[in-house]
Amino acid sequence: MSREWTLVGATTEYTVGLPEDGGWLELRAWGPHGVSDGPSPVGYVGKAQYMTAGDVAAVEYAPDGVRPFAGPDLVVRPARALSWAFEDASHSGDLLKVDFLDPVSGLRAALHYRLAPDSDVVERWVELTNTGAAPLQLAEAGSGGFCVPTPHGARLTYLSGQWAQEFTPATTELWRGRFEIGSALGVTGHQFSPYLAVQDARDTGQTWGVALAWTGSWRIAAERDAAGLTRVRAGRVAVDGPIALPPGATFVTPVAAGAYSADGVDGLARVWHAYERRLAGDRLTRTRKVIYNSWEATYFDVTAAGQLALAEIAAELGVETFVVDDGWFVGRPDDHGGLGDWTPDPAKFPDGFDTFVGRVRGLGLDFGLWVEPEMVNPRSALYEAHPDWVYQVDGRPRTTIRNQYLLDLGRPDVERFVHSTLDGLLRQYDITYLKWDFNRPRTEPGRPGVPDEELDLDGAHVAALYRILEALRRDHPHVTVEGCAAGGGRVDLAMASRVDVVWPSDNTAPIDRLRIQDGYLRAHAPHLMSSWVTDSTGFFDPRPRSLAFRFVLASAGVLGIGADIRHWSPDERAEAARWVARYKPVRDVVTRGEVHRVGGPDQERCAVQYTLEGRVVVLAWNPGPLDGLDTVPARPVRLPLRGLDPAARYEAGGRTYSGAHLMSVGLPIRWTVGYDADMIEIIPR
Ligand code: DGJ
Repeated sequence: MSREWTLVGATTEYTVGLPEDGGWLELRAWGPHGVSDGPSPVGYVGKAQYMTAGDVAAVEYAPDGVRPFAGPDLVVRPARALSWAFEDASHSGDLLKVDFLDPVSGLRAALHYRLAPDSDVVERWVELTNTGAAPLQLAEAGSGGFCVPTPHGARLTYLSGQWAQEFTPATTELWRGRFEIGSALGVTGHQFSPYLAVQDARDTGQTWGVALAWTGSWRIAAERDAAGLTRVRAGRVAVDGPIALPPGATFVTPVAAGAYSADGVDGLARVWHAYERRLAGDRLTRTRKVIYNSWEATYFDVTAAGQLALAEIAAELGVETFVVDDGWFVGRPDDHGGLGDWTPDPAKFPDGFDTFVGRVRGLGLDFGLWVEPEMVNPRSALYEAHPDWVYQVDGRPRTTIRNQYLLDLGRPDVERFVHSTLDGLLRQYDITYLKWDFNRPRTEPGRPGVPDEELDLDGAHVAALYRILEALRRDHPHVTVEGCAAGGGRVDLAMASRVDVVWPSDNTAPIDRLRIQDGYLRAHAPHLMSSWVTDSTGFFDPRPRSLAFRFVLASAGVLGIGADIRHWSPDERAEAARWVARYKPVRDVVTRGEVHRVGGPDQERCAVQYTLEGRVVVLAWNPGPLDGLDTVPARPVRLPLRGLDPAARYEAGGRTYSGAHLMSVGLPIRWTVGYDADMIEIIPR
C-alpha cells in the first residue's frame, strides 16, 4: 500500500506520508504543482538530540506523546503521553482520510483532508472517537499543524484590532519561539482574525496561509524551530476546561484551512477570496442589493414616520433594500432594555408593523430587520420569565456588557426560542434581509445546576448558532443574512459559509474605513464586505472626504447608505443617485471579481482592481492631503493594472490606452481638491 498521498488542487499540491514506524502522518511538500517531485523541503537530516524525532519532524497532527517538547495538537486525559499507530487510509477524489489508533486508551483519530481540484485551499479536520471503555477528556484538541519551510526566519502577517479598528494588518518576524493569536471570548473576536500568513523572511513571494472555520474561542500559534521549520497550530481552545469524550462518542474539530500562493500576501488574499466564493455556493450569484440602514440616522429613535421619510428618499436614490436597525421592538428606547422581546413596538408603529412594512414595500423596496437574538437585557419580559437562560456561575455575580446578558444558546430550550423567534418574524413579515448582531462576548463560564466537567459551552453555543443559521437559510432561502458583531467581531470562514454578507466595522469614517477595508480584503472576499456611505466626517476620524470618496469607498464591496439622507441637499441626493446608478452595472465585477490591490491606504497609488471574465473595474482614492494639488505642477498618479492583453486597446475615463501601457506605466489619475476618488471601468476597444 502507498504510504504517501498527494492532494492536487487548481495550482497547488499537498503531499503527506508515513514514516517507517507509522507513528504519525507528516508533511512531505506543500506548494505549486510538482513541488512534491524532489527531496522534501520540510524533511530533515541529522539526529534529533535531547528531544524526540516527533519534535523535529513536520508532523501533521501530534498527540503529546509524539511531540512532547515542541507543542502538541492533542492532549488527552487521563491517558497522557498518548501515541498511536497508523491503521488505515483511504484516498478517493479530493478526500483523504488517514486513521490512527491508540491501543492504550482506545482513542481513534481520523485525519481528514480535502483539496478540491478547482481550489488552492486544503481543508483539514480530525474526528476523535473514544473506542475504549473508559471516559476520556480532551484537554487540547486542535485541528492540526501546518508546516512551512522558513530557513531565514518566519515573516508572519496577521490582522488585529479592536472595536472600530478591526482588520489592521501587521507583520512580525519570528526567529525562534512562538507567536500566538486567538480569542478566549467564546466568539471570533475583534482582537484578531483567525488568519495568519507565513513567508520565509527573505522570500516574500511564496506565501502560506492558515485560517480557521470556527466561531468560538480559538488559537493560531506559529512556532519556529532551530532547524528552520515553522509549524502553525490552529484550532479551538477548550476555554471551559477539558471536553468530555465518553465511550463511543466522537468529537469533530473545526476545519483548519491552509492556502498557498506564489504571489505574496495579496496573492494569498485571492486564494482566500476564491475559497469564500466557493463557500457561498449558488448564493454567490445573487445580486447584492444596495441597502439603506437606519442605524446612524436614527439610532434608537425609531418611528414609522421617520423610517418612511428615510425610505422614500432611499428609493429615489436607487436603494433596493431598506433595513431598520436596532430600536424597533418593545422596551427599546435605548440600550438598557428590550433585547429578548422581539415584538414590534406599537407606540413606534401605531398603524401596525405589517402596515409599515407594506408601505416600505410599496416604495419598491425590499425590507430588512436588525436582530440580536442571542442576547437579553435584564430589563425585558424574556429575562423575567427565564433568568436561568443566561450564562452564569452559581453564587457569582453576572456581568453585563452594554447592559445585556448572553443567552446560553447551547440549551435546547434557548436554541428553540431563538430559532422560532427568527423563523416567526420571517414568516410573519415580508422580510428579505436579516442583520444578525452580537454585541457582547461571554464572561461567565457556567450553566446553573450542571457540573463543569459536563459542559462545553463554547462548542454547544457555536453548534446551535450554526444549526439556526442553516435552518433559516434552508427554510427562507430568499432572505439575505448579514453577520455583525458590534462591527467585525464575528468574521471567520465558518460564518463566511453561513451568512451572505458581513459588517466589518462600526467605523465608517472615510480614511479609517479605507484602512479597515484594505485589511479586511487580505482575508475576506468583497461579496462579504458590507459598506455604507455615512454622513459626517466621522465619529472616529474627523478628516473630511467628499461624497464621491465615500461612495467609491462603499462601492468596494456591497454598497449601502447609512447617512441621514433627510438632511442631504438636492445636489447631494442627485450625486448619490448617480453613484448608485454607476455601481449597479459593475457590482457583479466588484463582488465576484478577482481583486488586485494596486496600492494601500498609506500609498499615493491607493486603488483596487477587480476583474471578472474580462471585465475590469478600478476603484481609486486619494487618501493624502488635497490642498493645492491642482495649482502646482505634478505628475499624475499612475495605477499599474494587471491581467490585461498588452496588445489590446482599452478605453478608460474617456481616452484609450494600450494594455501594455496600462500594465507597465499605469492608468493616470490627476487628483484635485474637487476630485479625490473615482470608479473607472476599463473597457476593451
Ligand atoms: C452594533 C452594530 O455594529 C451596529 O451596526 C448597530 O447595528 C448597533 N449594534 C445597534 O445596536
